[in-house]
Amino acid sequence: MSPDTPPDGPGTRERAPGIPPAGPGTLLEVRDLRVEFRTRDGVAKAVDGVSWSVAAGETLAVLGESGSGKSVTAQAVMGILDTPPGRITGGEILFRGRDLLKLKEGERRRIRGAGMAMVFQDALSSLNPVLTVGDQLGEMFTVHRGMSRKDARAKAVELMDRVRIPAAAERVGQYPHQFSGGMRQRIMIAMALALEPDLIIADEPTTALDVTVQAQVMDLLAELRRELGMGLVLITHDLGVVADVADRIAVMYAGRIVETAPVHDLYKAPAHPYTRGLLDSIPRLDRKGQELYAIKGLPPNLTAVPSGCAFHPRCPMARDVCRTDEPDLSEVSRDRGSACFFWRECLRG
Ligand SMILES: Nc1ncnc2c1ncn2[C@@H]1O[C@H](COP(=O)(O)OP(=O)(O)O)[C@@H](O)[C@H]1O
Ligand code: SF4
Ligand SMILES: [Mg+2]
Repeated sequence: MSPDTPPDGPGTRERAPGIPPAGPGTLLEVRDLRVEFRTRDGVAKAVDGVSWSVAAGETLAVLGESGSGKSVTAQAVMGILDTPPGRITGGEILFRGRDLLKLKEGERRRIRGAGMAMVFQDALSSLNPVLTVGDQLGEMFTVHRGMSRKDARAKAVELMDRVRIPAAAERVGQYPHQFSGGMRQRIMIAMALALEPDLIIADEPTTALDVTVQAQVMDLLAELRRELGMGLVLITHDLGVVADVADRIAVMYAGRIVETAPVHDLYKAPAHPYTRGLLDSIPRLDRKGQELYAIKGLPPNLTAVPSGCAFHPRCPMARDVCRTDEPDLSEVSRDRGSACFFWRECLRG
């Protein structure tokens, strides 16, 4: 170890501006993570210096439009990134203070499942159509815990109960297509819970569901997080669904964090024009009848990110400096950061 390399462990290094220091309860800390894809059109910096952390019992929402690097961040954390074409070019991913990027695949696999587990958007393609849900849930226990089939089946029923699937004992022998979309997503959550992980990463867990079912699945995740004291990273493009469940939000744009804040502060007064745009795009009952705001334009192709502030072509507050200079994340307060030169102005509204 060179003299300038601090030992692994939370809180041993300078923290990123506006991101609370890691403490004893910190489960996962992503530090200055960088992931690139080499494509025919050039290099896409899908994750370009992202830092965040999540503690036991805490929910962090990672928010951003499609293509901002949310899933790639999650794949890097879980160790399921497609390499190639993807490549982690920098940073650290500390799970309970150990850098996962330095572990051997065997150790990594143990952490995946028992330490942290992932819930994906598309339950139908993640579940095996020709196996009953009981067999699929049970497999977690026969394969990973060496249980008998009978005990594993009992565990499967227990898990189905835990994710509030009615009549679990009767339905354990059914196939995925016999369940509704919402119930299938509950089965995915049950799979993730099987090995009692400390942390769950849910990547757009409700995007494929209709609005009422979305709220039910979100509530379930929030309840389980409370009951089990887990950490939860909730990835979404929809600011509307995380208001009630998240403690903190990290907003991503073009592979970077542009704002990070406790959820209530961010809702009360965003410190970045992109967050403001996302907030103004949420349908609200008190503005019924008014036309819904939409951020103009589209997020950039990551092989051709605009100069200066990547958001400038779409930003209603952009000035000349925004076209030439890139804003770093600045500290708005101890637990809040914004990557906008004019965050003070933005906060004032
Ligand atoms: N398999 C891949 N091959 C090439 N580029 C990819 C691949 N996966 C992701 N990317 C790049 O990473 C960017 C971010 O992707 P992703 O993290 O999936 O976005 P999202 O925020 O919607 O989850 C994409 O816009 C693309 O440029
Ligand atoms: S730095 Fe400039 S372009 Fe970027 S968000 Fe702030 S005002 Fe808008
Ligand atoms: Mg995604």
